[in-house]
Amino acid sequence: MDLKDRHVVVTGAGRGIGAALARRFHAGGARVSLADLAGAEDVAAELGERAAGFTADVASEEGNVRLIEQAESAFGPIDLFFANAGIGGGTDLESTSEEAWQRTYDINVNAHRWAAKHLLPGWLAAGEGYFCSTASAAGLLAQIGSAPYTVTKRAAVAFAEWLAITYGDQGLRVSCLCPQGVNTDMLRGSEDLGGGASVVRSAGDVLEPEVVADIVADAIAAETFLILPHPQVHEFMKRKADDPDRWLAGMRKLQARVLSQRG
Ligand SMILES: NC(=O)c1ccc[n+]([C@@H]2O[C@H](COP(=O)([O-])OP(=O)(O)OC[C@H]3O[C@@H](n4cnc5c(N)ncnc54)[C@H](O)[C@@H]3O)[C@@H](O)[C@H]2O)c1
Repeated sequence: MDLKDRHVVVTGAGRGIGAALARRFHAGGARVSLADLAGAEDVAAELGERAAGFTADVASEEGNVRLIEQAESAFGPIDLFFANAGIGGGTDLESTSEEAWQRTYDINVNAHRWAAKHLLPGWLAAGEGYFCSTASAAGLLAQIGSAPYTVTKRAAVAFAEWLAITYGDQGLRVSCLCPQGVNTDMLRGSEDLGGGASVVRSAGDVLEPEVVADIVADAIAAETFLILPHPQVHEFMKRKADDPDRWLAGMRKLQARVLSQRG
């Protein structure tokens, strides 16, 4: 899809990957609605014309409905919705509270479902629409040390695949962004959470959000489903599919290395 003059909504756009996506789509000529718990208005103000910022909490169905209504009253029907907001955190079964599991599900998975549920009727009637989500390489592989992140990001990938299969022949385009390390507050802030950041760093390349945004813009232009800014993730997926037991043994070795580094 050529995003020039299209209306794009990006969640989690107050900083990090979401802010970089919004800036990139705006530079490509889109009208952009930015949403976040905080900071979206500031990024929108910096972008100026063709940008609007909304304080929104996508952790509930009502929050998503309100955001869709606000965005549509600013710039009309939504052409592309980018469900990018996400949270990390959570560790193992003993240490992660039920509340933390639920919140991770709501933001990393249910938010995608609620947005798609309310956008789909309009998109099917129009014969086109574009749903993008940010999952993670952890959703294709695993996140050492965090059960909630691994499980919810896997679910996000599965939901995006299901949408593409079910509605692809009715004009819906779907893309799913699955990066490894990206230099954002989430990565910087997770140093102590389940070894997540140290695993990501030990896996190599930490990309800048702007680099990821350029890759995403190209993938949307080409309407590519799976967006892998780190090409090695494709190689890891192949190894996992070829020999799951060997892949699991390799992940256990990686985990042991991370734990020994943390002392
Ligand atoms: N940084 C990485 O290494 C990395 C790797 C893979 C995937 N991701 C994914 O990329 C996405 C963006 O993360 P980021 O790295 O830019 O992190 P970030 O923490 O800088 O940005 C996430 C944004 O989402 C917003 N957000 C969280 N909960 C929200 C809610 N309920 N409603 C509205 N907004 C909410 C936050 O306020 C924040 O601004 C996330 O889905 C994350 O899981 C990040």
